[in-house]
Amino acid sequence: MAYQKGLIRLDKAIADQTGYSRKDVHKLLSKGQVLVNGAAVRNFDAKVDLEQDIISVNGQELALKKYSYIMMNKPKGVVCATADEKLPTVIDLLPEAFRRRGLFPAGRLDKDTEGFVLLTNDGQTAHRLLAPRSHVPKQYTVWLDKPVEEGVEQAFAKGMEIPLDKHDNRPGRAGARIKCSPARLERTEQPQVVRVEIRQGMYHQVKRMFASMGYLVVGLRRDSIGGVALDPALAPGESRELDAAEMDMLGIGK
Ligand code: URA
Repeated sequence: MAYQKGLIRLDKAIADQTGYSRKDVHKLLSKGQVLVNGAAVRNFDAKVDLEQDIISVNGQELALKKYSYIMMNKPKGVVCATADEKLPTVIDLLPEAFRRRGLFPAGRLDKDTEGFVLLTNDGQTAHRLLAPRSHVPKQYTVWLDKPVEEGVEQAFAKGMEIPLDKHDNRPGRAGARIKCSPARLERTEQPQVVRVEIRQGMYHQVKRMFASMGYLVVGLRRDSIGGVALDPALAPGESRELDAAEMDMLGIGK
């Protein structure tokens, strides 16, 4: 069959999103137990449009989706990558049901940062959420090496300059500085713990912003992305699909 935009293999879609193996799906197809829009499909190469077609197996409709959006509570010590030679990755932590969907982290947290990581297989949405001009707010809890002094809120709100890093992918000579967009800093009851909201995603941004003010970040957790809060029911390492309200808040599916 010629490639048609939006169509994907039926056997792969079922195997990737259910407990059936590809072999199981082929058996079901051979027996005429897979229906697409009410008609039995027996062809192993059949393609479907997961946004429109209704697929059922043994009379039960399957909720197959074209794209997945997963919220994970990343623990410390795990890297935001799809593969790593030495360290566990966020992909290694996914439960079996999410494993074969081709997910990747939309944005990175450092190895020693914990909290909300969004995983998806929707490149366009990932790109939109990460693009600097989309200004999606991200909130963090930050543990510092000493109490926050007067004036730090104002420095964050004004938009501070930090030393350029080679990971910023910007031209600049040694000693050059880069301007951060205005950010919000909120104190908590603990003088060494603050909440910060940034709308950019530069390399080690929160740590570099505090370093430029003379503070060392000793702990960092991302609590929300685009107004969607990390589910407190998720223990470190656990993940779940975003619900409809959360997808809506992130402008997914609009
Ligand atoms: N800022 C950092 O410094 N590290 C992270 O992991 C996220 C934001």
